[in-house]
Amino acid sequence: MRLTVIGAGYVGLTSALAFAVVGHDVVCVERDPVRLSRLLRREDPLGEPGVGELLGQTAVRFVETDPEIDRADVVLVAVGTPMRPDGHADLVQVDEVSRSIAFGARPGAVVAIRSTVPVGTCDRLQTGALLHQLVVSNPEFLREGHALQDTFVPTRIVAGGPSAARAVVEALYAPLRERPCGSGVAAAQVPLIWTTSRSAELAKYAANGFLATKLSFVNEIANLADVVGADAGAVLRTMALDPRIGAGHLRPGLGWGGSCFPKDTRALAALAAGEGYDFIVLRAAIEQNNRQLAQFALMIERETPTDASIGLLGLAFKAGTADTRESPALALAHRLARTGRRVNAYDPAIRSTSDTAISRVDPDALAACTDADAVVVATEWPEFAALDLRALRDVTRGDLLVDGRAVIDPVRAAAAGFRYRGVGGLPAG
Ligand code: UGA
Repeated sequence: MRLTVIGAGYVGLTSALAFAVVGHDVVCVERDPVRLSRLLRREDPLGEPGVGELLGQTAVRFVETDPEIDRADVVLVAVGTPMRPDGHADLVQVDEVSRSIAFGARPGAVVAIRSTVPVGTCDRLQTGALLHQLVVSNPEFLREGHALQDTFVPTRIVAGGPSAARAVVEALYAPLRERPCGSGVAAAQVPLIWTTSRSAELAKYAANGFLATKLSFVNEIANLADVVGADAGAVLRTMALDPRIGAGHLRPGLGWGGSCFPKDTRALAALAAGEGYDFIVLRAAIEQNNRQLAQFALMIERETPTDASIGLLGLAFKAGTADTRESPALALAHRLARTGRRVNAYDPAIRSTSDTAISRVDPDALAACTDADAVVVATEWPEFAALDLRALRDVTRGDLLVDGRAVIDPVRAAAAGFRYRGVGGLPAG
């Protein structure tokens, strides 16, 4: 099958590589000249595990525009849909790309929208710019840091659009639906749910909205556990054992961030509001997330002088990536810097930053925390759990250790001479 993938970000590049590995003929279009030249040199522009190796092993052709898009059986759209100031998704790139596909692709070609787009977008494209193609909503569920793994071994595939596109989509995914032995999943085939484009579009927002809501709930339970004198860890471990709840996304912290949850929850809330539907649970989850971060900042402000020096451990929005988009760590740094505190940081994946809230990025945790009045763990990197806390306490000025990611053992922290403040130690209300 001949594919044109438009956009070489996390979604487009990993899709292009995976479809090429399983035997499709893939051309990947990237308009950013810097990213394109790296791809032409077969260099990984994302820092995703496995991408560099696969770039060297597959025949994906990277181009600025695909002069042979008329040969494509399927055009996959994987361009950005960033958040507009009003919370809605910005569809400028999707619309622009759709116009060029309409011009170049053959009538009847399948256009699969992998980008996260509001409900109704595919219907609009089908009756508008892409009238002569078959528009299918085909959202992805990959996690940064596991992008290739999630593309090769997806938990599910959802696609929706005109029935004439169904066989093409099934043929496209057939080789990826065979689960490799030892993938740890019982079903023989990855489920492919064929539905309407509106349902597929909503399925994407529903998944991210639910996971974000789960995390906000988890953070509330952790906060409440402290108020009532319960052990949040034990409570959450017990919850995790209920298969209906599941163990994933149960770690409390200073809040959720990244390029997806903040954008998609706001877009979903805005979508609902635009239809006159008040999505109260989701609104509360978003509000809780803002409050969670604000309360961490407040706690640190209460316990340190205004001219304090803060050793910030972690800048990325989560462990396993160098991505700082909508990072709670950076949001916290901004709040602290605004009140006059100096923030020196260390992150295993980030060597420098132009972010004005960060005074300095150090090459290791001890350097970032030297003479600090407080140490704040803001990203769940495993190496922070294994820190030599006595050595850390030896270099800090103050004894406050704020664990915003529930990765440090409070008993070890106390034994090393720290005053430990975890997720549960926030001011109530
Ligand atoms: C998220 C979803 O998990 C993917 O399924 C989805 O495909 C993707 O968005 C997307 O829409 O493209 P990602 O943004 O890579 O993936 O990050 P997550 O691993 O979900 O983490 C999001 C945030 O939640 C991070 O800030 C992380 O630190 C936080 N988190 C996660 C917790 O605080 N606790 C947890 O237990 C898990």
